[in-house]
Amino acid sequence: MNVLIVFYSLNGHVRFLSEMIAENFNPASTDTVELKLEKELPESIFRRNLLAAREFLFNGKPKLNNKPFDFSKYDLIFLGTPIWGTITPAMNTLLSENRISKKKIAFFTSCDGGSPNRAYSKMEKLLVDNHIIGKINFVNPEPQDIDNIRKRVKEWINSIIDYRGKK
Ligand SMILES: Cc1cc2nc3c(=O)[nH]c(=O)nc-3n(C[C@H](O)[C@H](O)[C@H](O)COP(=O)(O)O)c2cc1C
Repeated sequence: MNVLIVFYSLNGHVRFLSEMIAENFNPASTDTVELKLEKELPESIFRRNLLAAREFLFNGKPKLNNKPFDFSKYDLIFLGTPIWGTITPAMNTLLSENRISKKKIAFFTSCDGGSPNRAYSKMEKLLVDNHIIGKINFVNPEPQDIDNIRKRVKEWINSIIDYRGKK
């Protein structure tokens, strides 16, 4: 099974989750791609929030600094994003500019205590022609809690994937 893990992370929490997910698959058939913005966000938290709010209100799709994606060779795609009210602008660009269809897809998100549901609805809308097999959300997962996070991620993956190919 070829697996692709694509994520955006501003402060490392979603990147950490992507590593926890990747551990469960054969490295030879698993690719991980971090979405990068052509124009990085400002350092100042105030300006970052302002920009995020603007992107959120205007459905922003900033240019990505990644190679073109070829989703066709993957059987399972994990999509990871922090919750910024909804999905991050980087994830919005990825899903708006690429046609992904007939894939098994799972969402992983990290937030600060807010609900991920708006993000999930938006991703589902942008991925109508796919099979969403799972969703998982964490509140700012940190490496010091690695044992619990690893266990929760493993159980989640086992619950959404049947290695005999039934799900
Ligand atoms: C611009 C911005 C907007 C955010 N909006 C929300 C939000 O609406 N709800 C929430 O629970 N957390 C919100 N957060 C917190 C992040 O979702 C949370 O800290 C997440 O774990 C960050 O992931 P990262 O470290 O991979 O960037 C926001 C963070 C930023 C920087």
